[in-house]
Amino acid sequence: MNNLSDRVMNMINHQIFLELNASHIYTALYSFVSNDKQSYTGFAKFFKKSAKEEMEHAYKFIDYLNSRGGDVIINNLQRPQFTLLNDGTSTLFQMINFVLNLENQVFESLKNIKDNCNDSALETFLDPFLEEQVEAQFELAKLLRRIERVGNDGTGLNMLDNEMNNKY
Ligand SMILES: [Fe+2]
Repeated sequence: MNNLSDRVMNMINHQIFLELNASHIYTALYSFVSNDKQSYTGFAKFFKKSAKEEMEHAYKFIDYLNSRGGDVIINNLQRPQFTLLNDGTSTLFQMINFVLNLENQVFESLKNIKDNCNDSALETFLDPFLEEQVEAQFELAKLLRRIERVGNDGTGLNMLDNEMNNKY
């Protein structure tokens, strides 16, 4: 049984790739902030949790595509592209800015599927993902502003890290 067009199947497979790729990136950021040069324990916890959540999203799309009789394709992942810039902003600012852009790409992709799939069952399936995405991006955007506000003040950055440690 396959009740999906090839075009819609490709869109879902692309979404599976984006979710796995996001998990991959969060794992890289987790390992980066966990070392003794960065040592941001709270942000490490946040990235680890996010990596798991993205993996879960990927599995939900895999299960959904299979349930509609489609063929899942698991593609190669890219090496995470995050590089620290010497531009005066903190490591935390650059990382959260990076993941906010990443989440925005995921949001655009989800929206693109919903707008172009012409498949009401799939549209209903996508709604909770879109809602969660909006919420997550709002939280990240607010966090980014707070990080921006403390600049390179070590005490401020440590306070934010402690806050993340308690939250996640
Ligand atoms: Fe996701």
